[in-house]
Amino acid sequence: MRHSDVADQLDEVLVTEEQMLARLDELAREVERDYVGSVPLLIGVLKGAVMVMADFARALHIPVTMDWMAVSSYGNTTQSSGVVRILKDLDTDVAGRDVLIVEDIIDTGLTLAWLRENLMSRGAKSVRILTALRKPDAVVSDIVPDYLGFDIPNKFVVGFGLDYAENYRHLRDVAVLSPHVYADGE
Ligand code: IMP
Ligand code: MG
Repeated sequence: MRHSDVADQLDEVLVTEEQMLARLDELAREVERDYVGSVPLLIGVLKGAVMVMADFARALHIPVTMDWMAVSSYGNTTQSSGVVRILKDLDTDVAGRDVLIVEDIIDTGLTLAWLRENLMSRGAKSVRILTALRKPDAVVSDIVPDYLGFDIPNKFVVGFGLDYAENYRHLRDVAVLSPHVYADGE
């Protein structure tokens, strides 16, 4: 889905599909250098990270394995609650593995702070974080991504996997959701 298909529901485009793919390619080169001699386990955080994972993993020229977790901190609103629940756990034993968490966006970082601790407590050898996007509120947590796509302003965005009430995930670009869309629904 493209911006023009839902132009009345969106404000500006912050990151185009082309910009995102080019940046993920650069990050893939960094990851290849950092994981020489290791087969990292990429852990995607469902559902938002599906597009990041698909494009980032395919840009890599080293062996990796992939698994998925679903955690919930948001519900259908646009505010972070700080409450994290596991909705779907890993199939993989992370003990001794070099884990790379693949995320769509860091807002407060509360979700990732919790997830990093959770994976370390299961005996992961290392836990690093790749995120496509980061918002300014991330400075309040101690979460610093090892691999960052783009810093964006503190606006609610959709597309490239990011949703509002499960909509817009298949939008190719990252765009600001027009506030009238969620103002009407609350
Ligand atoms: P955090 O715990 O505050 O960092 O929240 C991270 C999660 O909130 C992300 O994985 C997204 O699922 C969701 N989220 C944060 N900001 C946005 C946004 O602008 N659009 C859509 N989802 C968002
Ligand atoms: Mg998410």
